[in-house]
Formats: sequence, structure tokens, C-alpha cells
Amino acid sequence: MENQVRLNCGLNLPHFGFGTFSYQAHSKTIESAVHMAIKMGHRHFDTATIYGSEGAVGKAICDEILNQNVGREDIFITTKVWGNDHHDPVSALKQSLRNMGLEYIDMYLVHWPLKLKPWACYPVPKESDFEEALDIESTWKGMEKCQELGLCRCIGVSNFSTKKLESLLEFASIPPAVNQVEMHPMWRQRKLREFCGEHKIHVSAYSPLGGPGNAWGSTAVIESPLIKSIALKHNATPAQVALQWGLSKGSSVIVKSFNEHRMKENFGALDLKLDDQDCLEIEKLEERKIMRGEYFVNDTTSPYKIIQDLWDGEI
Ligand SMILES: NC(=O)c1ccc[n+]([C@@H]2O[C@H](COP(=O)([O-])OP(=O)(O)OC[C@H]3O[C@@H](n4cnc5c(N)ncnc54)[C@H](OP(=O)(O)O)[C@@H]3O)[C@@H](O)[C@H]2O)c1
Repeated sequence: MENQVRLNCGLNLPHFGFGTFSYQAHSKTIESAVHMAIKMGHRHFDTATIYGSEGAVGKAICDEILNQNVGREDIFITTKVWGNDHHDPVSALKQSLRNMGLEYIDMYLVHWPLKLKPWACYPVPKESDFEEALDIESTWKGMEKCQELGLCRCIGVSNFSTKKLESLLEFASIPPAVNQVEMHPMWRQRKLREFCGEHKIHVSAYSPLGGPGNAWGSTAVIESPLIKSIALKHNATPAQVALQWGLSKGSSVIVKSFNEHRMKENFGALDLKLDDQDCLEIEKLEERKIMRGEYFVNDTTSPYKIIQDLWDGEI
């Protein structure tokens, strides 16, 4: 399989992405993980303002470029605008670029379809932090401006349902290149993948292992008896099976590990080949959304009164 996918904006996105979300990790830990990842061959890095990892990711990448280990053009960097900056994505991205020490990034995503008050730059909004109107149209105009100004080479979204993508496409001058969503063998996103395929929007899979070890994550995927048995059959590991499943659907996978051994293990997924039987069995697994986004739902101030509103029933 090609290790890159051509996006609708003309950029090539490496299929294997390196996640950098970790509230516990010190920036030195993140920096050394990024150095290790580049050495190992990773070329696609995922961060977000709200992760607090932009500085460390940017520093490690800039050092690698300075030391001529990689060229800037070889690295694909994604960051995301948080809800509190929906009123001005251009200023938010300029701040992200300062955080990272970069002149441009490759991909800028709307992190969640949720507009917050300007002060709410923390992961869990309070009741008083929600803007009543979503106003995605004006947020998207700001995103388009970011691309026009050359602050990013491409724009996209994250955590958007089929319905939200449909309405975005009605007014977008630049269509989103990517929708980054939770996707793994137990949350397969069939409907969304079909819609995105028809509209040339690439689906990028976050939490491709189900986020084991995260406060909100689960070991359900890598502990699944089926995933374990497929791994055994191929002399592989459950994580490699989960990652290769996502890759086999044409998605890029964004997996996080700051551990050298597990980073190597994960990269090994590129060499695994699942057979038709494996894929058929995985299709039968009971589905379970792990990142549900409950924090963004309330029956008073949020535009999403119940969880089904946030995902437009796709949950
Ligand atoms: N757009 C969004 O809203 C959104 C939401 C969530 C995540 N993301 C992005 O996607 C990335 C990945 O998601 P995630 O971190 O939630 O989930 P994940 O990659 O599925 O899981 C990460 C967890 O699994 C552990 N792990 C990694 N490789 C492993 C292996 N081979 N065997 C067993 N455990 C392993 C990691 O610990 P160690 O580090 O100790 O190995 C970490 O605790 C994030 O870092 C972020 O960049 C985006």
C-alpha cells in the first residue's frame, strides 16, 4: 500500500500519524518522543492548541530541520482550533505558529463543532462557557482565510457527523480535506466513511487503539478476544491489527505512544496484511463509541441538549 494519501487539496498525507495528546507528559518527554518518532520514520504529527503540546512538537521538529535530518517539506503537521477561538481562527493559528516556531502548518482543523466564549481555553467547558449559536459558517470563513493567507496549506474538521459535513459543504468555498474522527475496529464509522468517500473528504482515525491508558479511553479494542486471535494468527500484536484495520479502510491512523518499544511495534502495522476473513470477523464486533463528548452537552446553555444532537444520531 502507498504510505501516503492524496488529499482533495493536492497535499500528500502520510498514512501513519503520530499523536501527541497527553495531559500528564512533560514537554521534554513529548520533545524526545517526537525526535524518536522522526528517527523511526514518522513524518505526520498531530497536535492541537488544547493539548498544550504545540510548543514541544514544534521545537523537536525545528531542531530536526536545523540539524538537516529532515526537510520542512518532508513533515506533515496538523493542529486544531479550539472552540474559544472560533470567532477568529486566523489569530488563533498565528498564535499556534508562534508556539511551534513555524511559518506554516500543513493542516488546520476545527477541533469540535462547538463555539465557546473567548476565555474558555480549557478542555472541559463550564455551563457559562457555551455560545448559543454554532455559527460554523463564520468559523469556516476564518479557516478559509487561514489557507488563503498561507498560514496553513489545507483545512479540515474533526468530530463532524455526516449531517454537519453536508451543511458545511453547502456554504464552503474550500471543502474540508479531512474529517478526523474516532475510528477503530469497535467504532467503524461506516456511514461517515461512505459519505466522505463520495465527497473526497479523507477520514483520519484518531484513538485507533481505543485510547487505552487515557482517562476516558478503553482497553476494549486491544483486549478484544477477536483482535487478539487475529494477532496470534499473523504473529502480530493486537495494536498492529487495530492499526492495520484502519489503514486497510484507506484511513490515516493517528496513534499516540511515547514509549520507544510500542512506537516500533505500532509502526510494524504497516507490514501486516489482514485477510478477508479477518475483516469480515471485525465487521461483526459490537460497536462502542469511546470518546462521546459528554462535556459538550447540557440541557441549558449548549446548542447540544442531548448526546444525539452532538453526533446527529450517529452514536
Ligand atoms: N480530534 C480529536 O478530537 C482527537 C481526540 C483524541 C485523540 N486525537 C489524536 O489522536 C491521537 C491518538 O489518540 P489517543 O491517544 O486518544 O488513543 P490511541 O492512540 O488509541 O491510544 C494511546 C494510548 O495507548 C497506549 N499505546 C500506544 N501504543 C500501544 C501498544 N502498541 N500497545 C498498548 N498500548 C499502546 C499509549 O500509551 P504509551 O504512550 O505509554 O505507549 C496511550 O496510553 C492523540 O494523541 C491525538 O493526537 C484527536
